[in-house]
Amino acid sequence: MILTEVQGRAGVIRLNRPAALNALCDQLMGELGEALGRFDADPAIAAIVLTGSERAFAAGADIKEMQNRRFPGTYLHDFIGARWEAVLTVRKPVIAAVAGFALGGGCELAMMCDLILAAETAKFGQPEINLGIIPGAGGSQRLTHAIGKSKAMEMVLTGRMMNAEEAERAGLVARVVPAESLVSEAVALAEKIGGLSAPAVAMAKEAVNAAFELPLREGVRLERRLFLGLFGTEGQKEGMAAFLEKRKPRF
Ligand code: HXC
Repeated sequence: MILTEVQGRAGVIRLNRPAALNALCDQLMGELGEALGRFDADPAIAAIVLTGSERAFAAGADIKEMQNRRFPGTYLHDFIGARWEAVLTVRKPVIAAVAGFALGGGCELAMMCDLILAAETAKFGQPEINLGIIPGAGGSQRLTHAIGKSKAMEMVLTGRMMNAEEAERAGLVARVVPAESLVSEAVALAEKIGGLSAPAVAMAKEAVNAAFELPLREGVRLERRLFLGLFGTEGQKEGMAAFLEKRKPRF
């Protein structure tokens, strides 16, 4: 249910379940976790691009699979848990390249990535309320952090979708790009990251993500420790020497 390919330094993962608009069923999430782990462990890969089809990044968790689930089975078998959060354990940057629908769990999956690039066709939403449920993979928290309480509340309470332009204005996505160049823009970003010092990239990712999880004081402390740690890397020596010698750094 997924396709993978390597483009330069980017590991590209494409969700590929077109008949169900990439609804995120157990099998797909299992395959996704394996692919993420494989690319994360591959030293030739600098960053991962996660994308879907032109019509849908993912239209949510699989409603057919969820329909007959019962509590406490969902709880005991950790229905969401590790399988859904595999992307959070990846140490390399993960770029969500979103075209079409990113709804419910699809929007949550995109928000678990480190940044979102959106095609002009992208539509984001948390429509769970229309199914008698609420977001369950972090949507109420990450959307609120990203776009603020009022807008997040409106979307979660009503299921209203947001188009790419509104999502960019609200700060949910880094950039909107033409649909036909969505994946190539994401790969170009991965290439750019691939040319930088790998420890600095990993620490930059850790520091920014900490802003979502730690109080300001703790976040700043973590940043300080990471920053100082970088003075023990070749990358810092090379980066600063190159600047002073007016040449390009070779990381
Ligand atoms: C299962 C889905 C699906 C989903 C679409 N399909 N979304 N199947 N789970 N989430 C299937 C449809 O049943 C249909 O299959 C086919 O994909 C095409 O969808 P259509 O509805 O015919 O397409 P369209 O009319 O273009 O409408 C697109 C859409 C709509 C607006 C995206 O499909 C839709 O509203 N989907 C559900 C969105 C949603 O509620 N997501 C949140 C899920 S809950 P057939 O076989 O009929 O052709 C969730 C909770 C996460 O994500 C919590 C963490 C685990």
